[in-house]
Amino acid sequence: MCGIVGYIGDENARDIIIDGLKRLEYRGYDSAGIALCTENGLVVRKRQGRIQNLENMIAGEDLYANLGIGHTRWATHGAPSDRNAHPHCDRSGRIAVVHNGIIENFMELKEWLQKEYGIEFQSDTDTEVIAQLIGVFYSGDLEEAVFRAVEKLQGSYGLGIICSEEPDKLIAVRRDSPLIVGLGEGCNFIASDIPAILRHVRKIYLIENNETVILTKNDVKIYNAQRQEVHREVFHVTWDADAAEKEGYDHFMLKEIHEQPKGILDTIRRRMDADGKIVLDGIRMTKAEIENFNKVYIVACGTAYHAGLIGKTVIEKLAGISVEVDIASEFRYREPFVDDRTLFIAISQSGETLDTLAALREAKRKGARVLSVVNVVGSSVARESDDVFYTWAGPEIAVASTKAYTTQLVCMYLIGLYMGREKGTLPQDVYDRYIEELLAVPEKIEKVLRQEKQIENLAKKFYRRDNIFFIGRGMDSAVSYEGSLKLKEISYINSFAIAAGELKHGTIALIEEGTLVIALATQDRLLEKMISNIQEVRARGADVLAIAKENRTAVEQQADDVIYIPECMDEITPLISVVPLQIFAYYIAKQRGCDIDKPKNLAKSVTVE
Ligand code: AGP
Repeated sequence: MCGIVGYIGDENARDIIIDGLKRLEYRGYDSAGIALCTENGLVVRKRQGRIQNLENMIAGEDLYANLGIGHTRWATHGAPSDRNAHPHCDRSGRIAVVHNGIIENFMELKEWLQKEYGIEFQSDTDTEVIAQLIGVFYSGDLEEAVFRAVEKLQGSYGLGIICSEEPDKLIAVRRDSPLIVGLGEGCNFIASDIPAILRHVRKIYLIENNETVILTKNDVKIYNAQRQEVHREVFHVTWDADAAEKEGYDHFMLKEIHEQPKGILDTIRRRMDADGKIVLDGIRMTKAEIENFNKVYIVACGTAYHAGLIGKTVIEKLAGISVEVDIASEFRYREPFVDDRTLFIAISQSGETLDTLAALREAKRKGARVLSVVNVVGSSVARESDDVFYTWAGPEIAVASTKAYTTQLVCMYLIGLYMGREKGTLPQDVYDRYIEELLAVPEKIEKVLRQEKQIENLAKKFYRRDNIFFIGRGMDSAVSYEGSLKLKEISYINSFAIAAGELKHGTIALIEEGTLVIALATQDRLLEKMISNIQEVRARGADVLAIAKENRTAVEQQADDVIYIPECMDEITPLISVVPLQIFAYYIAKQRGCDIDKPKNLAKSVTVE
């Protein structure tokens, strides 16, 4: 969940690292720090709070170094504070470490270091154990000390390590936490993610698990756990650094909401030929292979899990195969029925979510075929899957996921349509209708985006509410979970989503005068039932804001306010109806003065269990 960055070269490491940290701030932002290898030895500066605090702290200092590491933190072990901020040093103050991940056996190692070496720890973190371990093993050879220390670590780590005795060397290690190396001219970089260093390099090494990297300014060597040097192909980044800029929008979230038509079209176009035929090039899905599957398992977390809920309905309907959906952190401890006839679909924007990764490994161990739906090229989930279906959302920076979600939904439709067609069970006219509807979605979303002002006004009307419920039936119920998650994660309003028909079995007890209920009523075949549910909550004093297709006057008669979405097939509505909910959540949070792109307690990439 944290972000690490490191630099070795001829420029001032300080500025490069601070800039890199700002681009990684979405990974965690409760404290930040930097360690520089100056001619006067190691200088470490760290501060609780945003990177700006760190920048203010060092603003007046004349710090110059050609080697340095930096960190932006999402606290796991030890509260957010100056002393728990990274980098952490060994007791001699010569070695500094930044870490993304969790050391599971840190208590045991801490006790050992205290007992055997009398080390007094300066922080409550698991990370300090790594710095102290390297310190006790260090006798003039940093590489050797790092290898020995890493052998003792259990857990996950992306590490950046420097030592004032060896100012021409930067060491990085990876296990289960993302790590990339940037290859420059006369300089090299490490980082948790590509945007951190994209201003400087386009040539990247994607570091694999259990690899150690030794960087000098002119050379990069990668070693496996057996200390054998390994060859790595260079990965060329094709997307632009500007894609990760706000481009005039107040927040990344709003920009990313507006990028959905493009992301959706790009995702469709990459997988469709000129005749509207879905082509899954590079994904092994022959007719025989598809027929061999007797079950699909979709596993993911958070918003990606909500995409999976829609995926279940869509794939079952189009491909005629039973689909189970599970939360990744539950799946792996459930002893699920998965075998070599299971198609396991992992959905993840970042491709680094540890729960999803662990579930994927469990499914593979049981023999399943793993297809992942991922946004970040070369991420861990992508690399460990048998096949990858990339979403073409572009970099998503805001913690609250928007365009990744809608492009994930597109993949669910494309997978369902492809499987149904290959099996020969999906009638051509149904297939054609879906393709036509999918291709029309971007324009329909544009139409919803044009209602932004109206939605902002609704947010102004309701932003003081303490409790907001989301209800819906069928596919609308899955969308209501996503609408509710969006609202609570950025506005901190207590929000709850429930299938509308389930309300009367308990939750309706919470509805009272002044409760806001957001009712998704886009499913024509369930409209009458939904209208009854709206009446039930209104009878108990709730205000109702409905989301409905155009010209559904019956909804208008029952609800206090309605946001309309363009006409489309019931089955396609999730791609469109979520957009007003994203905009509504955004403006509610804005009215409440929340830090929209970096909500409290959250991080973009959740690399802890
Ligand atoms: C979305 O708004 C959330 N921030 C979160 O639920 C997220 O979708 C979840 O952590 C999964 O992330 P992933 O898609 O990167 O695996």
